[in-house]
Amino acid sequence: MAEGRQTFRHDTFGNEAHWTGVLKLHQVIESAVDPKTALSVGLKVDADAVPSAVLQAIRNGTADLDSPATTLALIQADAVVGVKGTVQTIDGVQRLTRVGITCALCHSTVDDSVTQGIGRRLDGWPNRDLDPGAIIALSPALDEVTKAVYRSWGPGRYDARFNMDGQNKPVVIPPAYGLADIHRITFTGDGDSIAYWNRYVAVTQMGGLGSFSEPRLAVNVRHGTEDRVDAKLDALQAYQLSLTAPKAPAGSFDSAAAARGRVLFAGKAMCITCHSGDTFTDANERLHPLTASMAEPETPSYASRSATKLYRTSPLKGVWQHPPYFHDGSSPTLEHVVERYNERQQLQLSPQEVQDVAQYLKSL
Ligand code: HEC
Ligand code: HEC
Repeated sequence: MAEGRQTFRHDTFGNEAHWTGVLKLHQVIESAVDPKTALSVGLKVDADAVPSAVLQAIRNGTADLDSPATTLALIQADAVVGVKGTVQTIDGVQRLTRVGITCALCHSTVDDSVTQGIGRRLDGWPNRDLDPGAIIALSPALDEVTKAVYRSWGPGRYDARFNMDGQNKPVVIPPAYGLADIHRITFTGDGDSIAYWNRYVAVTQMGGLGSFSEPRLAVNVRHGTEDRVDAKLDALQAYQLSLTAPKAPAGSFDSAAAARGRVLFAGKAMCITCHSGDTFTDANERLHPLTASMAEPETPSYASRSATKLYRTSPLKGVWQHPPYFHDGSSPTLEHVVERYNERQQLQLSPQEVQDVAQYLKSL
């Protein structure tokens, strides 16, 4: 598990070949990305890794947050969550010579205990502030048409298939916690273990050295001659399975309403027919056709681009933590989610009952 945590937080799988060699993001970061810009695209800073003098300066407002040199100092301290860089002094100047990314970039955030965007790591929590498209679009190596696609995604969204099938329909970055005992991974249940998808992302999305092949999608990708992914997958999976969904904060929901909502969830609202068991999903038994998603119909349909062409019932533990909802993020709140089911499936829930079910969801 400790090994897996190290991999999750700090391992690039050799993807500097992509982020430095191909996208040349090190050039942009060292010349133009000051800490304010970095925080504005949702990058997070791990306060535990920030040198104490710098942390002090941030706390008392004297740190130079308009200077890319400060960003370099943070990268050098390994304090930018999900970003690994090598800073070297060349001709007396601090230069960022290599940069790569880790899983934590998208699947960790911080608790903002120092200030907005700076605090302790929360592994498995999706970084819904992060704008991966905006970051990739900073690359001087991309043409304008491709940059326009990346810029269209917005915070908290990423399309993990765009560079494979050329279609553009990002999904929200999901949590990487609460997945123990769930044997269908991703919104569309493409893999039967986390390791399947970890290999997909590490190789095809992050640009790590290794290989991934998926006959159902005719995807066959190999980067480099060595494999820096394969041997790490077991530990990485063990770590992720250890990440439990966060409990609802005390006082964040109305417990009397939640108790009524629980009865409705299992009864009149019929949610339990799919959101069943301790994990609140029937993923281990079945996947569902497009019509089961309140976000469908959509063009292009996200499921249609996947290996299964189906949707997995989303697990609901910790669902309070990660609005917006559904794979496309089209429901801003849990009330909105329940109202959508109510209308589409003609559940005849009264406005009070909709609220009650929403309060129950907030308690999970
Ligand atoms: C650029 C952002 C990004 C990075 C980096 C990234 N992911 Fe993801 N991850 C996503 C998105 C978006 C999805 C949703 C894809 C889908 O379901 O089709 C996802 C899905 C997942 C899932 C499935 C969750 C579920 O509910 O089944 C897991 C597990 C996961 N990622 C783990 C990882 C690991 C481990 C790494 C590093 C090897 C990683 N991710 C790197 C964006 C990212
Ligand atoms: C026919 C099966 C089915 C039923 C019945 C069902 N759901 Fe779902 N639910 C799904 C599927 C599939 C998804 C994923 C859809 C997507 O992301 O587009 C989902 C997603 C959700 C989400 C979003 C979770 C997230 O992480 O974004 C919530 C919340 C939810 N359902 C609550 C409910 C409630 C409340 C009910 C009862 C009113 C209900 N569901 C009934 C299958 C079902």
